[in-house]
Amino acid sequence: MTKKITIAIDGFSSTGKSTLAKQLANTLGYVYVDTGAMYRAVTLYAMQNELITKEFFKVDELIRVLPEIKLHFKFNPEVGFGEIFLNGINVENDIRNITVSSFVSKVAEISEVRSKLVEQQQEIGKDKGIVMDGRDIGTVVFPEAELKIFMNATAATRAKRRYDELVAKGDNVSYEAVLKNVQERDYIDTHREDSPLVVADDAIEMDNSDMTKDEQFTFVSTLVNDITKTL
Ligand code: DC
Repeated sequence: MTKKITIAIDGFSSTGKSTLAKQLANTLGYVYVDTGAMYRAVTLYAMQNELITKEFFKVDELIRVLPEIKLHFKFNPEVGFGEIFLNGINVENDIRNITVSSFVSKVAEISEVRSKLVEQQQEIGKDKGIVMDGRDIGTVVFPEAELKIFMNATAATRAKRRYDELVAKGDNVSYEAVLKNVQERDYIDTHREDSPLVVADDAIEMDNSDMTKDEQFTFVSTLVNDITKTL
């Protein structure tokens, strides 16, 4: 049996990280973890408890109640990946709307939030056989990962992808609002003090603006095979 490795997939929002990560996990029989979903679920909790609105963000209060926020993933065979639960409730759909998207980067800036989630991510992935996607997986969560991919695409390409997804779900959003959100999150994600989005020294960069899903999957699968062959 081939040895299992850790695959870290980082990159800008809406670059298709989760699509690629799910494909890899299903093909390899690995566990897939969407760490963005964890930051989104904490954001949803903050919204539900009126700790964050357009007018204010009660950071100290959020830090105080962090121990009350329990997250777990449960594999749903119907969709083929682990869905996220916030305090026992499946919030997989609720965390994907544009309001959560507009607040999540603010929540992800808080060091106390990051250290809580990073600890849980490290625990989930400690036995390898994991594909984890996020912003700091190859740099902070698993700096020893055997394979690190950094995904990028133009902001316009990414906004169009996210816009199409939201419209398909029935959300009433404008392309301009989605593009603005993508650009704002890019800025905050790359400029925050704690664990900013950067390319790990040993990551393989992949711009998929002009790549099909099949092409990127084949490209990364070959890398995985090359690595596991040598173990
Ligand atoms: O991947 P996503 O768009 O669902 O992530 C939502 C936000 O969470 C993103 O704007 C940045 C933050 N995030 C992070 O800071 N670190 C991670 N490992 C994953 C996501």
